[in-house]
Amino acid sequence: MSQTTIALVTGANKGIGYEIAAGLGALGWSVGVGARDDARREAAVEKLRAAGVDAFGVPLDVTDDTSVAAAVRLVEKRAGGLDVLVNNAGVTGGMPQEPTTVDLAAVRTAVETNVIGVIRVTNALLPLLRRSASPRIVNMSSGVGSLTRQSGSFDELATGPLSVAYAPSKTFLNAVTVQYAKELRDTNILINAACPGFVATDLNGFRGVRTPEQGAAIAVRLATLPDDGPTGGFFEDAGVVPW
Ligand SMILES: NC(=O)c1ccc[n+]([C@@H]2O[C@H](COP(=O)([O-])OP(=O)(O)OC[C@H]3O[C@@H](n4cnc5c(N)ncnc54)[C@H](OP(=O)(O)O)[C@@H]3O)[C@@H](O)[C@H]2O)c1
Repeated sequence: MSQTTIALVTGANKGIGYEIAAGLGALGWSVGVGARDDARREAAVEKLRAAGVDAFGVPLDVTDDTSVAAAVRLVEKRAGGLDVLVNNAGVTGGMPQEPTTVDLAAVRTAVETNVIGVIRVTNALLPLLRRSASPRIVNMSSGVGSLTRQSGSFDELATGPLSVAYAPSKTFLNAVTVQYAKELRDTNILINAACPGFVATDLNGFRGVRTPEQGAAIAVRLATLPDDGPTGGFFEDAGVVPW
């Protein structure tokens, strides 16, 4: 492994993912900017480099096996390994999502990207992560995936709009995170889920109340956990998020 810590952030061309890349880059890390659109990716890489970050572009569509395999090869060739993976890319699947009237395509899209995409990318990169001295995986989840919060409240600020695709896809992702932590419990890999709060981004038509930089902070914290840090947990800035 090289001396420099290497990270890859999926969906890093904008929003919270971009700020996670900026935050990790500010630590002096080399950061792969995973993004599916060439122009948006290159613009983000240029902006990060202008800010002094050792950023490199990684063409990456998390729903596409071929794209993910090529991304793994690129990371290995460009960086020589990987220490930290932030699975940030996510979609709502399209709104509205009232359970009784939902377009099933929205459910499929949300699960394909937010859950299967994370499993696909994680498994493809695990051989590189296993070679790291302190591998970390951060799955960008959401408090709307908390069944405790969902079942206790009709407050949209806490639980988001009714959604039978997006919110349950994050519940699914949380469960997936726990399963990985169990399988990897005897390794040095720490894997956790993060909630960024309600952040003003494209995802919600910029209705969020936090900045992308604020939303990125919890992912940066979980990406930089000490070796005796938690695994299989779900965290926001204020601490543990209830399942
Ligand atoms: N905003 C919030 O309030 C909030 C709250 C809780 C959790 N989150 C989570 O935070 C993460 C980032 O969201 P955001 O708010 O920053 O939204 P955003 O601004 O819409 O950014 C989403 C990112 O994911 C990328 N992406 C989507 N599908 C992809 C795919 N198939 N392959 C690769 N990249 C893909 C997008 O790329 P394109 O530009 O190509 O579309 C974009 O870079 C998501 O997982 C979201 O669920 C957000």
